[in-house]
Amino acid sequence: MKSLILVALLLATVGPAARAQSSLLDQARARFEVVPVSPPAIPGNPLTPEKIELGKMLFFDPRLSRSWLISCNTCHNIATGGVDLLETSIGHGWAKGPRNSPTVLNAVFNVAQFWDGRAKDLQEQAKGPVQAGVEMNSTPERAVATLKSMPGYVESFEAAFPGQAEPVSFDNMASAIEAFESTLLTPWSRFDRYLSGQADALNTVELQSLELFLNKGCVNCHNGVNVGGTGYFPFGVAEKPSTDILPEGDKGRFAVTQATSDEYSFKSPTLRNIGLTAPYFHSGKVWDLKQAVAIMGTAQLGSELGDSEVDAITAFLLTLTGEQPIIEYPVLPPHTDRTPLPESGPTAGAGH
Ligand code: HEC
Ligand code: HEC
Repeated sequence: MKSLILVALLLATVGPAARAQSSLLDQARARFEVVPVSPPAIPGNPLTPEKIELGKMLFFDPRLSRSWLISCNTCHNIATGGVDLLETSIGHGWAKGPRNSPTVLNAVFNVAQFWDGRAKDLQEQAKGPVQAGVEMNSTPERAVATLKSMPGYVESFEAAFPGQAEPVSFDNMASAIEAFESTLLTPWSRFDRYLSGQADALNTVELQSLELFLNKGCVNCHNGVNVGGTGYFPFGVAEKPSTDILPEGDKGRFAVTQATSDEYSFKSPTLRNIGLTAPYFHSGKVWDLKQAVAIMGTAQLGSELGDSEVDAITAFLLTLTGEQPIIEYPVLPPHTDRTPLPESGPTAGAGH
């Protein structure tokens, strides 16, 4: 009897706090998902170890660029959160591109690729940078000739695409890169441990920050597995940011759909690993994460967040850093006398 009373007393005191905590967890579980430890199935592109290995070689091979200097990893450095840490990327001939490089980590979960979503998936995306004048400045023909010139690559393509008459092709190059990229996942962030039921994964301050992120409405555009990457929204729903942060010339998704309602709309970026991927926004103009959060408050929510709210929300964002992929650097096949040699001069390349 005595112990029953004790239990009842205990329940009465810890009950409300525990209930509040579990309802916060329920709310979070309704809006977010953890990053899985293994890649999702890709429709039309079955993942095999051979294909993933080939994709890794291609991702790190600078000879896919005309200059032999630039690989995918140059602008999506896996050692630095899958980005280049530049305002906007620098490509062939030191040319500066118009946009900030988004991370390749967890990109497989985005609704589509690029800031404006113009590539429907990673396979389609991978063909862009190889050809883009301001990026790798090559052509599909040159890329295929390069790969065919190296017996080591021919063997790897045959192993990755068995039974095909023409295993070395531009499409298969892109499929292999997609396969590798889909393994670039960052599971087990502290936030994901919390979602998985580890109650002490977030401290009291971080739990309050999560609550703010949910209640202020950030979650409406940044949700799902990637805490973003789910849709397109005008940058400046409530109030347009200044033109240095939102340059007038880049109308975002409008270029893809020609719909006036899409002017200055961009894909809501993933906030996973956001602590690693400064500078922020498609223009790359903001280096300080707190400033980025404050801008989101005025631009997207129409509410001036106080310093303490900005600090709090930022604390939540920093719990989104996951375990980074550990990649063994590939040894690439040596070039032969048939491999097109590097050219560094300016060459007309297709748009991205
Ligand atoms: C010169 C720098 C540069 C190189 C090289 C480069 N990228 Fe990118 N990448 C960018 C930039 C900048 C963007 C954003 C462009 C845009 O949205 O218009 C981007 C976008 C992407 C995205 C979309 C991510 C998202 O969230 O929308 C993926 C995936 C990607 N690149 C993969 C690759 C792969 C694979 C390669 C190699 C074949 C590659 N990139 C080479 C700079 C580069
Ligand atoms: C109406 C949709 C919407 C809401 C609400 C919203 N965001 Fe965003 N967020 C976006 C879009 C779109 C971008 C990309 C803007 C750009 O660069 O063009 C973005 C960009 C960001 C970035 C920069 C990411 C990067 O990689 O460059 C951060 C950080 C961010 N949001 C955090 C927040 C926070 C915190 C809140 C709540 C205070 C919030 N967002 C509310 C849509 C939204």
